[in-house]
Amino acid sequence: MEDGCPDGCVRKDQNTNKEQSSSKIDFEPSNLGTKEYWDHAYERELEWFRASGETSGVWFGEESMDRILKWIEKQNIPKDAALLDVGTGNGVLLVELAKAGFTNLSGIDSSKTAVELAKAVVEKEGLLSLKIQVADFLHLFPCLSHYEICIDKGTFDAISLGFDHPGEKLRSYRQSLLNVLKNGGLYVITSCNWTKQELVNHFNEGFELLEELPTSRFHFGGTTGNTVTVLVFKRKE
Ligand SMILES: C[S@@+](CC[C@H](N)C(=O)[O-])C[C@H]1O[C@@H](n2cnc3c(N)ncnc32)[C@H](O)[C@@H]1O
Repeated sequence: MEDGCPDGCVRKDQNTNKEQSSSKIDFEPSNLGTKEYWDHAYERELEWFRASGETSGVWFGEESMDRILKWIEKQNIPKDAALLDVGTGNGVLLVELAKAGFTNLSGIDSSKTAVELAKAVVEKEGLLSLKIQVADFLHLFPCLSHYEICIDKGTFDAISLGFDHPGEKLRSYRQSLLNVLKNGGLYVITSCNWTKQELVNHFNEGFELLEELPTSRFHFGGTTGNTVTVLVFKRKE
């Protein structure tokens, strides 16, 4: 998969360098915002994994995973730091983090079949200490606030494509993130639906932008933009 938006979840002015002052949702809802879509997608992938021992690919492509891994390696983050993968899907990012030496890894996903698949994938790799469970990120509580790092690759995007009250869900998402991240904790988001400015606006309450990670750029009709946006935020103390 290339470093771009899979399955056509695009908007017209996607990630161009136009400054945008509000984080209101101005793209059409899609099936990618429904639990049914992900349940079916991971049922197919689980079937394929059982038959072939292989996963179907990496959301946003291998490059998107390498980028996060390289960034984490550079931060000298302790290997036992508590890390949560929000909407872990097939769990492949967790596997790579475990191979890089991280020992306190958790993943959640609202799709039961995604979790079944992720558990099968980590079991095949012999990584039984990884904690993977079914949970809706929009309903996590403050008692869970012990993560030093939260990573989201495509989950905020999926939630924002929902048919029912996506704006409300995105506010719940931000609140859940505040609930689970320690003060000073880091949040790394990879998105193809939101511009840097929109993400900064959305996470302004409670988070400060630390860094934008470089991604592939495109030039079209006098406009320059990024295929995906990758930002690192810090939860304010
Ligand atoms: C675009 S996929 C990305 C999966 C994975 N992060 C990856 O990079 O391969 C979005 C994932 O978010 C999950 N998801 C959607 N809404 C969620 C929610 N409210 N809580 C937890 N997971 C959710 C979906 O089931 C799906 O696995």
